[in-house]
Amino acid sequence: MVQLDGAVALVTGGSSGIGAAMVRALAARGTRLVVADLDSERGEAVAKEVDGVFIRVDVRELEQNRAAVELAESTYGRLDVVHLNAGLGTGGMSAGDGFDPELYRRLMGVNLDGVVYGVHAALPALRRAGGGAILATSSLSGLTAFAGDPLYAASKAAVVGLVRSLAEPLAVDGVTITALCPGFTDTALVAPMAQAFRDAGFPLMTAEEVAAAGLAAIDAGGTGEAWLVQPGRQAEPYRFRGVPGAAKPDGEHHVPPPTVMGWQEGPE
Ligand SMILES: NC(=O)c1ccc[n+]([C@@H]2O[C@H](COP(=O)([O-])OP(=O)(O)OC[C@H]3O[C@@H](n4cnc5c(N)ncnc54)[C@H](O)[C@@H]3O)[C@@H](O)[C@H]2O)c1
Repeated sequence: MVQLDGAVALVTGGSSGIGAAMVRALAARGTRLVVADLDSERGEAVAKEVDGVFIRVDVRELEQNRAAVELAESTYGRLDVVHLNAGLGTGGMSAGDGFDPELYRRLMGVNLDGVVYGVHAALPALRRAGGGAILATSSLSGLTAFAGDPLYAASKAAVVGLVRSLAEPLAVDGVTITALCPGFTDTALVAPMAQAFRDAGFPLMTAEEVAAAGLAAIDAGGTGEAWLVQPGRQAEPYRFRGVPGAAKPDGEHHVPPPTVMGWQEGPE
């Protein structure tokens, strides 16, 4: 399990919202920070606040993810924690009328490629550190239907699937991976809808509350989990029901898959 005091962390999308709150929360626990984001002005300011370093990164580019990891190692000598958090929504684009292929590619590039590339770029450094923790910001919409932004929901569900499936292969290197699944949080991402939430009396979470849940998930030391973060509730791993096992014509149930397949089954 990673001890945050004295550890080194990289946070993508660290210039604002949940990422910036995570940077501050990690710094308060004694972690040294690399802040990575497209937004240099705000990112430089956040990094300065915590005596960390900033790098302008487009998470859609593998080489830029690698550069952020290299900066962590060249500045601090190691990398222990990676929060792959950069993300965006489409503002409600559907797959039918109004579908914009370019916006779709951008969405998947940031929300999914950004996590895959972030894991790939960080793994060698995490191995050199003797293990580490990866946190990927998914969303409540990665766990349930979200008609308000279906393609965003698809990108976030993909992150949950990736995290659950990568847990076992990464465990060999002592690396944990967790999806953070917050509900609606008061950041720039939901700013256009914030008033509607207030008018409806719906409690938006603060970015600080979500960051605290992210730290709790890292401290818990689990892997392959999707931590559900909802207003007024204790953050905890979402309990997936599990898929029913294969059944044979003779009625035998729970025929286990060959271990090489590495999938999980649950009770029917
Ligand atoms: N706010 C919510 O209600 C909510 C709920 C669930 C999940 N999330 C997720 O939380 C994460 C953080 O979002 P937020 O709410 O703090 O919004 P935000 O807009 O405040 O922060 C997102 C950050 O990502 C950065 N970013 C965007 N594209 C990038 C790219 N290509 N490369 C590098 N950085 C890039 C932005 O510059 C920004 O700093 C996102 O993944 C988002 O999908 C947010």
